[in-house]
Amino acid sequence: MKEKLNEPIGAEEIISILKTEDKKTLDDLADLASKIRAKFLGRQVCIHGIVEFSSFCRRNCLYCGLRRDNGGLSRYRLEPDNIAETAIMAVKKLGYKMLVLQSGEDLYYSTDKIVYILKKIFNVCRPLIFLSIGESDFVSYGKFFAAGARGVLFRFETSSKKLYEKMHPGASFEERINHLKFFKELGYIIATGPLIGLPGQSLESHAADLILIRELGVHMVSMGPFIPSFQTPLSDYKSVSPFFMRKIIIAARLALPALRLPITTAMEYLWGDNFRRLALCSGANSFMLNLTPTEVRDAYDIYPDKNKLTNHLHSEKAIFKIKKIVKECGLEVCRGFGKDFEQALSGLADSCGMER
Ligand code: 5AD
Ligand code: SF4
Repeated sequence: MKEKLNEPIGAEEIISILKTEDKKTLDDLADLASKIRAKFLGRQVCIHGIVEFSSFCRRNCLYCGLRRDNGGLSRYRLEPDNIAETAIMAVKKLGYKMLVLQSGEDLYYSTDKIVYILKKIFNVCRPLIFLSIGESDFVSYGKFFAAGARGVLFRFETSSKKLYEKMHPGASFEERINHLKFFKELGYIIATGPLIGLPGQSLESHAADLILIRELGVHMVSMGPFIPSFQTPLSDYKSVSPFFMRKIIIAARLALPALRLPITTAMEYLWGDNFRRLALCSGANSFMLNLTPTEVRDAYDIYPDKNKLTNHLHSEKAIFKIKKIVKECGLEVCRGFGKDFEQALSGLADSCGMER
């Protein structure tokens, strides 16, 4: 695949990577992925922080511990002032420049409440805020943009319409994709992608997922392994192996050379620091670290005991640890937005007040 340094790979090559069982072949492909990352994105590795502010959700996604029908979960909500203060603390005390505010689809947070949170943060500092709050209408997302949000994290979960609609009772795949289109129209930086390892996915559908990301023309890949969660209809299924996840990361870098590709919290949950190292040396180029206040963290159970392993991650110590891993891979930590996002933001005249 040496000749592939200049041209993104297509579905057939993605499938062939996903079929690779030979470790040496995979190591060579990982080196190629690293070269491609260096060519398109340099050596910088960005760190994103994530605040999970509500575990209430009106939806019923089959795989998710926060699904509406999971009556066995003790749920929590952070008040708007508390959310804003957590974000401000992350920026002012811990030096984060990019934050994801995430929740289930919780109607308690009206458009006005989200706007209030954003304004309160921006009165004090100007981080790049990604919203990850699910489906809503064009007008509301327009108001969030006007209030200063510049990113959305919104997975399509799978590119197969049939599987999407099976996994999301009552939801429409077209509606999901429409959201991604209107986010683009509004000017948001977009992170999207699939879950990896849902029952019913295939090598072909994984390839189609990566191709869909390309067709959508987004800025960042957000994908993670499905982790079976108690009290959900998929609790008896298994997660993918780290070996397979690494292949998807390599294929993603080769198919989407210039996109930001983070090591997401589910990868870290399942496989820890060793996988972080492996993924960074296979084409990934950023991190998602958990900033949810410790008092409520244990209740954000998208998958079981999700936050057991990440309890330390809000501290400077966590960033120190990340720096070490990044250095071991011959890369360097970027504590700004990263060149790719700077470029995406530079077209937006009203975002010049942002702290780089
Ligand atoms: N395992 C891994 N990821 C999950 N998500 C939801 N449930 C699970 C699970 N069981 C992911 C979805 C969603 C994001 C917020 O969390 O991809 O988009
Ligand atoms: Fe709600 Fe998101 Fe979980 Fe679906 S994946 S149930 S929308 S929190």
